[in-house]
Amino acid sequence: MQAELSCFEPSCRARFPITDILYTCPQCGGLLEVAFTGPSPDPAALKKLWRERRLSNAPLDSSGVWRYREMLPFDGQTHHAVTLREGNTALLDAPHAAAYAGLDALRFKHQGFNPTGSFKDNGMTCGATQARRLGLRRVACVSTGNTSASMAAYAAAAGLEAIIFLPHGNISFGKLAQALEYGARTLQVEANFDQILSLVRTLADRLGIYLLNSINPFRIEGQKTIVVEMLDQLDWQVPDWIVLPGGNLGNVSAFGKALRELHAFGLIPRLPRLGVVQAEGASPFYEFVQQGGEFRPQTHPDTLATAIKIGDPVSWPKAALEIRSSRGAVERVTEQEIADAKAIVGQCGIGCEPASAASLAGIKKLRHAGIIQRGEFVVGVLTGNVLKDPDYIYRYHMGQLRTSSGAAIQPTFGNPPEVVPNAPDTIAKRLNAV
Ligand code: F0G
Repeated sequence: MQAELSCFEPSCRARFPITDILYTCPQCGGLLEVAFTGPSPDPAALKKLWRERRLSNAPLDSSGVWRYREMLPFDGQTHHAVTLREGNTALLDAPHAAAYAGLDALRFKHQGFNPTGSFKDNGMTCGATQARRLGLRRVACVSTGNTSASMAAYAAAAGLEAIIFLPHGNISFGKLAQALEYGARTLQVEANFDQILSLVRTLADRLGIYLLNSINPFRIEGQKTIVVEMLDQLDWQVPDWIVLPGGNLGNVSAFGKALRELHAFGLIPRLPRLGVVQAEGASPFYEFVQQGGEFRPQTHPDTLATAIKIGDPVSWPKAALEIRSSRGAVERVTEQEIADAKAIVGQCGIGCEPASAASLAGIKKLRHAGIIQRGEFVVGVLTGNVLKDPDYIYRYHMGQLRTSSGAAIQPTFGNPPEVVPNAPDTIAKRLNAV
């Protein structure tokens, strides 16, 4: 479909060509989003086309993002597409996690099955494609680790120069390692994510570098396909709830936009409710939704789930709209709740990184608060792969995990390794003892 950039602010709604290099509205400073123009597609024909493409080996058809290209603002421009066959992530039944949360059933959409191990790939394929379409050579982002890993990979695949800004000492080693391996220029800054984002916005303008944080509307467009693919996998049966972790709040904005568009095009008869879960120490959006009034950023966000350690989320106005229009909910969970939920996801044979486990911890809490009902159809989104943060896992199972203030996390579901002598009798005795 034809598309334009549109200011997200209801009082402005200024429109700009899709090829303008903009991150915020030049007239009012509001967030930008992609707006589609022209006639709506035929929903039955789209469902059939998307299903048929699953049988195709063509690169774009075998990407779980580009398969749904009718939902993306790249009409006639797909020759620029940079794809690592992202998306195509599993939708898994998790009865053990369902029982833990007090539900009859629970499914996980596991975005950690992406090429760089997180949902960021769904958006980055579109961000890198837009950079190529615009003829830009350098791309940059600040990241708590996953965006940078993803950007580094897609920039490398596209032949673009990648510059990454990281909060020094505050990202997992696995994610830092990915940025280095994919060849990105990596700058570790002595500041937190929110401070570095404003630094990078200044530098991007000054140096003419294309910014690929989730403030970039093309990233959001790509992330929409997470729910499009989910619904395709569900044969278009609409869940009652889709629950995901919230940091910078780009993903919930993408999900909400996708669902509203699918509804407007007649692909789904109703909207699921969206649940966003934040870590207690980094929960400005939770506070805002609970208390109303002005949005107040948190200056010292703190959580061991470093992916969502964000105090000033840029996309909060979009997220607020999506929570309102889906009659959704925002929850917050403790460090202990995240750690235990993460171990339960592991016990399902699925596994995820700490931030992702906020989904299950939040579902359990919303269930116990009576907001989610036992028999409801719930999909939890796992945003990152289990191997993203092995240090956290090891510490949890060893009973060594501590918060930044030194409080111990209990290894409720701990499974520490045992050291044994090289002696068959001793080992056999030990193994039969239970
Ligand atoms: N889960 C994981 C694993 C993440 O990496 C992030 C964000 C989120 C959840 C939250 O998503 O920001 O769209 O609300 N990571 C960003 C990064 C900030 O830089 O990798 P959000």
